[in-house]
Amino acid sequence: MQAAVYERTGPAREVLRVVELPDPEPGPGEVRVRLRVSGVNPTDWRSRSGDTPRPMAFPRQTPGQDGAGELDAVGADVDAGRVGERVWVFHAAFGRPTGTAAQYLVLPADQAVPLPPGVDFQQAAGLGIPFMTAHRCLFADGPIDGHDVLVAGGAGAVGNAAIQLAKRAGARVITTVSSPAKAELARQAGADAVVVDYRRPEAAREVREFAPGGVQRIVEVALGTNLALDLEALAPGGTIITYARETADPALPVYPLMFNNLRLEFMLVYTAPPDALRLAVHDITKALRAGDLRPLPSLHFPLAEIAAAHEAVERGAVGKVVVDLP
Ligand SMILES: NC(=O)c1ccc[n+]([C@@H]2O[C@H](COP(=O)([O-])OP(=O)(O)OC[C@H]3O[C@@H](n4cnc5c(N)ncnc54)[C@H](OP(=O)(O)O)[C@@H]3O)[C@@H](O)[C@H]2O)c1
Repeated sequence: MQAAVYERTGPAREVLRVVELPDPEPGPGEVRVRLRVSGVNPTDWRSRSGDTPRPMAFPRQTPGQDGAGELDAVGADVDAGRVGERVWVFHAAFGRPTGTAAQYLVLPADQAVPLPPGVDFQQAAGLGIPFMTAHRCLFADGPIDGHDVLVAGGAGAVGNAAIQLAKRAGARVITTVSSPAKAELARQAGADAVVVDYRRPEAAREVREFAPGGVQRIVEVALGTNLALDLEALAPGGTIITYARETADPALPVYPLMFNNLRLEFMLVYTAPPDALRLAVHDITKALRAGDLRPLPSLHFPLAEIAAAHEAVERGAVGKVVVDLP
């Protein structure tokens, strides 16, 4: 099979190459997927570049956590009736040398999720990291029906997924974006209100106009940059849940956080509780069946241009970067 690999961390063009590898065989409890589309996320370039503060775990790594294709073989202890299923996969390269930037992938059976009819592989390859992260950020503390939620960065992959899942769960959603074009993507996801340009001093007031008592929950992509806005926007007892790192860690204004009994939470999708991931898979599948999830516009790259795909995500491309597998 053809697969992208890197053997050391570094810039995309220096370390990524496409090679021929033997087709993998599923072991006990595993399935094999003939991948058609691989979704590229920031986590992929962060690991490949060395930005993630963790050394490479394997001598050779295929990048890509997310992807979609047809399940074409099963190992011992897996229902052979699954062969032929259309599936999306998650956490493919977490703790494993294999990833979705390859024609075939072997992974534990429960990480290959049946895809409802009518959902194409392109959309399916954008589900794993963005939607599972968004799901946990929204529901880590229980239902949000009737809550006011602020999603920072509503045109980003996670932010856009968070708007969609929050609306489906009965929340009122306001989001912040940097430009009118991004505002349109956030509105298409179902945001009730959009603050264009979160850098303006009026941004916090606009959130307060939407939710005069303050929002109960903030799904945060840039804690340090947005902390002042978040403190103004949050209702007493509210929660900021942060899923991304910035270049520098923020200094925490302890007294305002304390005074309003605010909660600061952090989440990493890889190490989220297994029950939470199962619930995310369940809810995402239900939402797909209902036709409630809308993909971001996608930017396609062939496998041979995997380095360009990584660079696009690294530059902050608008939309979902996907790699089409030969
Ligand atoms: N903890 C986890 O498990 C987890 C899971 C997924 C992703 N992540 C991390 O989360 C980050 C985002 O991932 P993604 O896939 O959503 O990336 P993405 O698709 O590139 O989206 C990031 C969005 O954030 C916006 N943004 C940046 N600064 C902002 C600010 N101060 N206020 C509001 N919006 C802001 C960006 O737009 P503008 O710059 O135009 O505002 C962009 O739309 C990455 O750093 C990624 O590594 C972590």
